[in-house]
Amino acid sequence: MATDFLNFDKGAQAIVTGAASGIGEATARLLCAQGLTVIGLDIDGERLSALDMGDRFHPMVADTGKPDAIEAMFGELAERFGPIGHLVNNAGPPSALPLTIEEGLAQTAGSVQRMTAAWEAGLPATAEQASVVNVASVAGVASGGPPPSLISGRGGAADNGWYPTGKAAVTGLTRWQAVSSAGKYRANAVAPGITMTPRLGDITGGAYGRDVLARTPVGRLATAPEVANAIVYLLSPAASYVNGQTLIVDGGGTLAF
Ligand SMILES: NC(=O)c1ccc[n+]([C@@H]2O[C@H](COP(=O)([O-])OP(=O)(O)OC[C@H]3O[C@@H](n4cnc5c(N)ncnc54)[C@H](O)[C@@H]3O)[C@@H](O)[C@H]2O)c1
Repeated sequence: MATDFLNFDKGAQAIVTGAASGIGEATARLLCAQGLTVIGLDIDGERLSALDMGDRFHPMVADTGKPDAIEAMFGELAERFGPIGHLVNNAGPPSALPLTIEEGLAQTAGSVQRMTAAWEAGLPATAEQASVVNVASVAGVASGGPPPSLISGRGGAADNGWYPTGKAAVTGLTRWQAVSSAGKYRANAVAPGITMTPRLGDITGGAYGRDVLARTPVGRLATAPEVANAIVYLLSPAASYVNGQTLIVDGGGTLAF
């Protein structure tokens, strides 16, 4: 009887961006626990080197928003690891950051596309189980993003329309990747609701967090490992016929308006 439901190839390797914290860290941990070799990219070298994930985890300091750096990094990765079959595009700026729509698009869908194109260039023509998962947000699917009161309360700009715009673009890009990569890799996205990660601090201490909590049928906000479970499923051969989809992971919160 099969017990390994996810069914990753022996020797499978994955890149996880934003691996030093929150959803990326939880995803990297789960993939290591599943026996994969994980290359964890993050801009925050200090936090990355403080992680203890064992021998399967290879930290690498990198800024996924810098096109030149991405190309150089993939050259190094190809030499050290050969073809890497799986990619999790998780890194992205906090929604409270004051960005223009153009900057926001460049740092969400733009960097997801650049990372994926550079990764895809190193895939063997015969890659059968290759896959990408992009991290979007309910803000790009079903809500308009955090309200100005929350953003301004955290020292950011009230005008953060780039966040739902950029995350919606990530879901559209995911569908396009699924179609344009026919025969090469599968692409899917997750759209988490509010997830308790360091960037949010004590969100349930404020009115917005309490409101979302009250509306969420599951009765609590998501944890990073719960979002990681969805990412790893979509990344794995267990999802071999799921392609171009965005899986909302929000405890039903966006249904209860
Ligand atoms: N936490 C939530 O409520 C929530 C909800 C929906 C979507 N998301 C999305 O999930 C993803 C992860 O968020 P999180 O809450 O785990 O955040 P987090 O702050 O806990 O972790 C993000 C990590 O990404 C790294 N990072 C940021 N920009 C980077 C870059 N340009 N290059 C490399 N690394 C970079 C940071 O250093 C950090 O370690 C983001 O794309 C975010 O938009 C989060």
